[in-house]
Amino acid sequence: MIPTQAVILVGGAGTRLRPVTSRVPKPVAPLVERPFVAYILENLARHGVERAIFSSGHLAEVVEAEIGDGAAYGLTVDYVVEEEPLGTAGAIANCAGALDDGPLFVFNGDVLSDVDLTTLGRLHVERRGMATIYLTAVEDPRRYGLVELASDGRVAQFLEKPGEHAGPALINAGVYVLEPEVFELIPPGRLFSIERGVFPRLAQAGSLYGYVGEGYWRDIGTPESYLQAHVDVLERVVHTTAGEALGETYRYVAPSAEVSPEARLVPPCYIGDGARVAAGARVGPLAVLGAGARVGAGAVVVESVVQSGVEIADHALVERSILVRDSRVGAGSQLSACALGEGCDVGAGNRLTGGICLAPGTTLPDSAVDFREQLRGREES
Ligand code: GDD
Ligand code: MG
Repeated sequence: MIPTQAVILVGGAGTRLRPVTSRVPKPVAPLVERPFVAYILENLARHGVERAIFSSGHLAEVVEAEIGDGAAYGLTVDYVVEEEPLGTAGAIANCAGALDDGPLFVFNGDVLSDVDLTTLGRLHVERRGMATIYLTAVEDPRRYGLVELASDGRVAQFLEKPGEHAGPALINAGVYVLEPEVFELIPPGRLFSIERGVFPRLAQAGSLYGYVGEGYWRDIGTPESYLQAHVDVLERVVHTTAGEALGETYRYVAPSAEVSPEARLVPPCYIGDGARVAAGARVGPLAVLGAGARVGAGAVVVESVVQSGVEIADHALVERSILVRDSRVGAGSQLSACALGEGCDVGAGNRLTGGICLAPGTTLPDSAVDFREQLRGREES
């Protein structure tokens, strides 16, 4: 039987994604104006999953407030909250009481993927293992679960976060099918990792299988990959309803947005509810404007995530950057490869570049920083 239920793990702290996650838990950080986990739910529903259980700890109530009962996504959502983090295996086992009989899908809550769950579920049934892991190939497997696959589809070895490994390899993509018998391997009520405590044992017993999918896969753990996930949704490299909403022109403009006829929207781009773009401004390619964001006259926004309520003043330039909600960029300021936390206020005439990341609420006066000039000065001296 292909699973019709899923557990989604969302208990991690998400610290590597700051400042995006300084005030919002990673699972509901907006990706093209939808909470991130909505993409997981929509893929589950597409493959016939009827019920998802969020296993949360950190800021559980914020996830619940955003996602509710799941009706908007075509399935039923329930919540199981941990008092203390139990680790990935402990968290799954903690959901046992809320699950129906039979196998289940498990998702790491930070994975964007259009994995073919129907094929994954079918393979799992055919091979009759205790668990089947969706695998993907990456260039550098060191911060993932490294998997060695035997020719019969069995996982020969599972090694979590190998300190050393040269060259590309298959890794655990953070999507599984589990038989409920796997719960017997998990000690109840204490910190236990599925990657360290369960998968290596199942591999040794010959009852762990891998499925190498063709689909898209990305873990949104860092600001760089968060920005790239936006690019991939806008370019429709990954199959999502948000991407489909862009239509043939790769351009979505919410009906309530106000875009000056003298502004230029360069696709792919997404202009959210009530956003305003003034004359002479250019938005795109690869730009997302959140609800109520404002782009002033002559400003340019390229390859950037501009969340709701952000204000970009006249003639500012924002490229390859992330502006978390309600932040502000003053007139003529230039931001390149930067991230502004919630409510930051960058005055006019600043130049920030090269990975500068401001904590939420940071204020920079007018003309306070000219990062490019400083760099140049250092090279000359
Ligand atoms: N409920 C709960 N409780 N959830 C947890 C806990 C916990 O104690 N610890 C982690 N999680 C959730 C996280 O929120 C995340 O969604 C998922 O479990 C995986 O944890 P991460 O902290 O993101 O792990 P990782 O990215 O370092 O590694 C994992 O994902 C890789 C793929 O992205 C592992 O599964 C690797 O093997 C895998 O390759
Ligand atoms: Mg992760």
